[in-house]
Parts: sequence; C-alpha cells; structure tokens
Amino acid sequence: MTGELSPIDKAKFVAAKRAANMVEDGMRVGLGTGSTAAWLVRCIGEMVRNEGLKIRGVPTSTRTAELARDVGIEVVSLDEAKWLDLTIDGADEFDSDLHLIKGGGGALLQEKIVATASDQMVVIADAAKEVDTLGSFPLPVEVIPFGWQTTQALLEETLVSMDVMGRSASLRMNGDVSFVTDEGNYILDLHLNRIANARQLALVLNQIPGVVENGLFIDICDTVIIGHGDGKVEVRDINEGTVEHDKLDFAESDNLFTDLVD
Ligand code: A5P
Repeated sequence: MTGELSPIDKAKFVAAKRAANMVEDGMRVGLGTGSTAAWLVRCIGEMVRNEGLKIRGVPTSTRTAELARDVGIEVVSLDEAKWLDLTIDGADEFDSDLHLIKGGGGALLQEKIVATASDQMVVIADAAKEVDTLGSFPLPVEVIPFGWQTTQALLEETLVSMDVMGRSASLRMNGDVSFVTDEGNYILDLHLNRIANARQLALVLNQIPGVVENGLFIDICDTVIIGHGDGKVEVRDINEGTVEHDKLDFAESDNLFTDLVD
C-alpha cells in the first residue's frame, strides 16, 4: 500500500507519525490543518482506536474537526480546553529560528490562536519546507471582506517601506469566487519573494485596519520534525538546542494507508 505514496507523502507521514509519539494520555492537543496535519490526525486516531489513548483534540479548521471526529478523536473547542499541552501542525516554510509561514490552507487565524495557547508547538514538515530566508511562499494575510480592496492597497503601500523583494498582493480565489475562511474572511497572498525581517513585518502588517492576522509565526514554534521519503526523521528542538535522528517503519501503519484509499 505504501508503494502508492509519493516520496513527499511518505516524508509527511513519517514526520506526523513521529510527532504522534509525543502525544500522551490525558493531553489537550491542538490539531493542525493541511495534508501533513491530516496524517497526524489519522495517526492519533489509530492510537485512540487501537491503544485506548484518551486525549481531547482542538481542531484548527472545520475540515480538521471533521477528520478528527471521523477517526475517533474527542473534539472540543479551545474555550472548553482553555489551554493546550501540545499543538502539532504543518507549515509552508520554516527557517533556522523556527519562524514559519503558514496559511497555505487558509486556516492561519485559528492555527495561530491555537498554537499560541499551547505549552508547546511542534511543526511537522517534509524537508522541502526548510528555507534560509522566508518569503518564497506567498505570505497569507487574512482580511475582513469589508473594504478588502482598500486594505490591499494599504498593504501594498506599507510594503514599500519593508525590506522585501516583491510587493504585490493577490486575492485568494476558490475557482471563480473569493476563497472564504472559516471565519468568513478573505485571504490576500503577498508575493514578497524574500522577507529580510520577518519579526518586524509580522508586527507591521497587523497594524493595518482590515487585517485580521498574518501567516508569519514568530517565536511560536518550539520543535520541528522533518520527514524524509526513506522514513528518516530529524527532530530539532529550538529551546533545548538538540537535534535527534530517527527512522520509522512504514509497515506498522498499513491500516492507515488502507483508510486512505477507501
Ligand atoms: C493551513 O492553513 C496551513 O498553515 C498548513 O499548515 C500549511 O499550508 C501546510 O500544509 P501542508 O501540510 O498541506 O503542506
């Protein structure tokens, strides 16, 4: 069954599988959004069903909530959980300080709220997500629909004084219509190519009226788990300054792959 997975999917899977090992009985766990986080939710679901793991999961999107319930995870709201032991999520880019670009899937607002309300945030990613400098991936900015074109103009004007290599913003589309987030907002993708000072940009963007949140995650991520297509994983902890290497076996998880093609 694993033969049908691409190397990139195998990389995402082993990162997710390794992260699932960090989940312990009784934890309140933030569940990320995206293709890598979907593997995580499946892995945790398997632990709930087969090993009797008891956790409460706080999803970061309606689609993660649906998947979590489908695989047997108890889903609660952030307000019910109040504070989380651990959040595990994917990322679009990460750098050596574990600063991130997130929001490729449009869930950056809930993702940032949930990750910030956690003792620990772990990012799971394939190796292609690592960059020297953030910015090749368009930076998502969630804006309210009211006056979004004015907000776009303000954003582009603000970028003139920022140390970035591109300054255009485009409205994210879903086919012929605007993409709408779970909160009923729009996403403007900023095509910056290179962000020299991500910390400064993250603060400045959120000062613009109409901007709800941006996809730069600064000083939020504690650990990154990087998966490779051959099953190898690397675990980097920014607080401890440690790097661990591991190798995971695909064979143990054949039922997950069976689920995938059902
Ligand atoms: C969702 O809004 C994003 O932040 C995702 O976490 C990010 O886009 C990574 O997604 P993949 O795991 O699908 O690459």
